Amino acid sequence: MKIVLLGAPGAGKGTVAKLLSELDGSVQISTGDILRAAVKGGSDPGKKAKGYMDSGDLVPDSLIMEIMEVRLQEDDCDKGFLLDGFPRTIPQAEALGELLGRMGIGLDFVASLEVPRDVILDRLTTRRTCSNSACQEIYNIKSNPPAPDGTCKKCGRPVIQRDDETEEAILNRLETYNEKTAPLIGYYRGKGLLRNFVSLSSKDTVEEIKKSLKG
Ligand code: AP5
Repeated sequence: MKIVLLGAPGAGKGTVAKLLSELDGSVQISTGDILRAAVKGGSDPGKKAKGYMDSGDLVPDSLIMEIMEVRLQEDDCDKGFLLDGFPRTIPQAEALGELLGRMGIGLDFVASLEVPRDVILDRLTTRRTCSNSACQEIYNIKSNPPAPDGTCKKCGRPVIQRDDETEEAILNRLETYNEKTAPLIGYYRGKGLLRNFVSLSSKDTVEEIKKSLKG
């Protein structure tokens, strides 16, 4: 699979990407996860990214492209990839198109996950994430809770709320999405690559994506 997952914060991109990656070994590449690991590790890209992330703004395109140019050429991408949270601006989409063109790779399609705003707000305030940067399993205290002692069911480490999950940062992330990322829907529709998946359970979305791949 070579799919871009597009959707507002909390639309379920990470959840769907993890389920899809279990089907055929296609690798989930989440720019958010990569950046959070860089922040935690205290690397230069992490130091540059932290302030933008905590306030809910996008990290500069140049930093994201530096990371993704390298990541997409790593060996595990040969099996396929699920791009989760990238591209997020028109310049990123253009740079991705150029990079894939150079690599001789075409996308299957861009899956746009459409979820109403009230559902998104509810999901983001109730999401919890494994603190282990090698795991980053996603939970939800309502629909998919962690272990009763607040640890990850997969790796046993504490499950936490992310730094960008304050109400102020969530609202800023939604505004940033509408302004900078939603235009990608029209961009990819114009290229004939867009498929819409409307407010489904994550498992149903995966089934629909599988059908789209066959069709
Ligand atoms: P990132 O980590 O990508 O955050 P995001 O896009 O805001 O997406 P989320 O991870 O919040 O949501 P999601 O759609 O993956 O939903 P999830 O599956 O977790 O980015 C963070 C920051 O990094 C950005 O703000 C920016 O600063 C920076 N950044 C990252 N990429 C960048 C880029 N390319 N350019 C510039 N800056 C970049 O689900 C949410 C919750 O809902 C969970 O609790 C889940 O359990 C639950 N849930 C999911 N699906 C369902 C369902 N169907 N039914 C019920 N519950 C569900």
